[in-house]
Amino acid sequence: MVMDIVERILISEEEIQNRVRELAEQISEDYQGKEILLLCILKGGLMFLADLAKHIEVPVSMDFIGISSYGTATQSSGVVRITKDLEESIEGKHVLIIEDIIDSGLTLSYLLNNLSIRKPASLKICTLLDKQVNREVNIPVDYVGFTVPNEFLVGYGLDYSELYRNIPYIFVIKSSYYTNDD
Ligand code: PRP
Repeated sequence: MVMDIVERILISEEEIQNRVRELAEQISEDYQGKEILLLCILKGGLMFLADLAKHIEVPVSMDFIGISSYGTATQSSGVVRITKDLEESIEGKHVLIIEDIIDSGLTLSYLLNNLSIRKPASLKICTLLDKQVNREVNIPVDYVGFTVPNEFLVGYGLDYSELYRNIPYIFVIKSSYYTNDD
């Protein structure tokens, strides 16, 4: 059972849903009169994208980008490979990147460079979680759901060995369930 690996729930389903609505309200206000291209970073951003998009009141389109870091399982190196590229051109569009979590910031730093070359009208970042204490490069984050401590977080898009992305809350995993051999 999932509950067996939960050390404690950090952010409940209700807290996530309330914050997601607040963010959607803010985004709808900021982008009034415009269309937004929500650019979801796979796979972690998927749950957040789905819930956030439902409450945004300006027209949105969606696209997906898959990236894989050459880092270890729990730490990214900043060397990033695109495993699935966007389907549409972003030139002249208002692009809002949707992430589940920003940790070192290396993944987004790479992505920002890569995307800005493609000439979007604007390029902003919306992340549900911000593990600010681990930041290695400065990233201009426009929308943040929650600032979180440096713990192994799972659920609502975040995985442990590809499992538990479907859990509707964010929890700290019991340390006996993973070995940190980095
Ligand atoms: C996570 C997260 C970010 C990145 C953040 O993705 O979704 O893309 O790590 O780390 P950084 O700020 O240190 O670069 P992950 O590589 O775990 O892929 P996933 O979303 O498919 O689980």
